[in-house]
Amino acid sequence: MADILFKWDDSFLIGIEELDHEHKVLIDDINRLHEELVRHDKKSDIEKSLGDIYARMQAHFALEEHVMKEHKYKHFDEHKREHDELLDSYTEYMTQFLSDTGISSCSPIEDNLKHWVINHIVTSDKKMSQMIQKKGLKTKLRKRI
Ligand SMILES: [Fe+2]
Ligand SMILES: [Fe+2]
Repeated sequence: MADILFKWDDSFLIGIEELDHEHKVLIDDINRLHEELVRHDKKSDIEKSLGDIYARMQAHFALEEHVMKEHKYKHFDEHKREHDELLDSYTEYMTQFLSDTGISSCSPIEDNLKHWVINHIVTSDKKMSQMIQKKGLKTKLRKRI
């Protein structure tokens, strides 16, 4: 296996099982993409991985937003804005990358994803989880991945 971009760390856990599971799966996907980039895999394979990660993020954000709404989370707007910005910047990098002839422009995508994991999960998602769990988690979550 090529070098790993993200090593899962339990400090990423936010305490809501289904969301933690989705974060883990997403980090696995990001690591797989990283391996493909390091190996200089076919552009079509990388394109597929980029698209899968986008779809995964979109579904994950939709689930979190559903949970936040159900709990009338007071920082919903701020949190949703972060999700939207993350998807927008990811889309921008993905478009740039795909319009490029080489695969050397991978690092902005990886930096963007890393930023998401480090900053968003451990700050915004954790804050959301703590406040929601204080009230009692009432959403029946099911594993979507
Ligand atoms: Fe999340
Ligand atoms: Fe989030």
